[in-house]
Amino acid sequence: WMLHAPYIRAIKALKKERGAVILGHNYMTPEIFHGVSDFRGDSLALAIEAARTEAPVIVQCGVHFMAETSKILSPEKTVLIPDSRAGCSLASSITAKDIEGMRAQYPGAKVVSYVNTTAEVKAASDICCTSANAAQVVEAMPGDTVIMTPDGYLARNVARQVSKRVVWWEGACMVHERFTPEELRAYREADPDTAIIAHPECPPAVIDEADFSGSTADMINWVRREKPRKVVMVTECSMSDNVASELPETEFVRPCNICPHMKRITLENVLWSLHTMTEEVVVPEHLIAPAARAVQAMIDLGA
Ligand code: 13P
Ligand code: SF4
Repeated sequence: WMLHAPYIRAIKALKKERGAVILGHNYMTPEIFHGVSDFRGDSLALAIEAARTEAPVIVQCGVHFMAETSKILSPEKTVLIPDSRAGCSLASSITAKDIEGMRAQYPGAKVVSYVNTTAEVKAASDICCTSANAAQVVEAMPGDTVIMTPDGYLARNVARQVSKRVVWWEGACMVHERFTPEELRAYREADPDTAIIAHPECPPAVIDEADFSGSTADMINWVRREKPRKVVMVTECSMSDNVASELPETEFVRPCNICPHMKRITLENVLWSLHTMTEEVVVPEHLIAPAARAVQAMIDLGA
C-alpha cells in the first residue's frame, strides 16, 4: 500500500478534475477495488450504476464487455477502459452470426445472452442476464424452450433450477472451468468445517460440492452474513483478497484462479487512462439501440 499511495492520490485528484466515476468489478485487485473505485460490485450492479450515474466520464475497471455495456447504457458519456485488451473467453466465444444459427436450430425460442458478450451479440439477443438473475430471466421468457449463450456451464446450472427446457452454446469462462470437484472434496476432507461457495460459471459437478452458488456480489454477501470460520471462494483470486480485510475472523483458503484479462487493469494504467482520456470505448451507432434494449429488458425485469 505504501507503493500504491502516490498512484491512489494522483488518481483521486485527476478523477475529480475530469468529473469521472470509477466502476470497479469485484475481481479488481484491492488497491483498485478499495483504493480508487467509487462504485464496486458484480456485473449487474455495475451495469445499473452505469445507467444511473450523472458523471460525464466513466472509467471501467473491469473487462471490455463491461465497458461496452456502460457505453450502451450511457452513449452520451465518455467510457474509458485502462487496457482495451482486457477481453473475456466467454465474450470471444460467440458472434451475432452464431446467434442466428441457434435461432434457426430452435425456431421461436428466445435468446438469453449473458452480459459477458460483445455489443453485436447483445444486439442479436432478446434479453441479457447476469449470474445474479439468470434463472429468473430464463423463467420469465415465453415458450417452452430458451436458448442461453454463451456460457454452457451457467446454462447447465440454470437448467436445473427452472421449468423451461434450456439449450445452450458451448462457451466457458477460462477461470471457472478449471475447478474440479475432486480438489474441493479434498479441502472438505482435510477440514470438514470448511465452507465452499462457488460461482455459477463453474461446471455443475463443482457446484454440487458447494454450500452456496451465486454472483460475485452474492458470494461476498454470503460470507459477510454467514461469517464462516474457514471458506473457499471458488472463483477469481481477488475476491478473497477484497473481503479478507473486513473479516479477520474468517480464514480464506485458496485454491483460486486468476483472470488474466481482469489483471490487465492496474493502478498505473488507470492513472494513464485518466491522464490521456484513453482508451475510449466506441460502440457502432447501429448496435447501440438494439443492444441497449436487451440490457434494459433485463434491468426492467428487476430480477
Ligand atoms: P459477476 O460479477 O456478475 O458474478 O460476473 C463474474 C464474472 O466472471 C465477470 O467477468
Ligand atoms: Fe471472462 Fe471469466 Fe475473466 Fe470473467 S473471469 S472476464 S467470465 S474469463
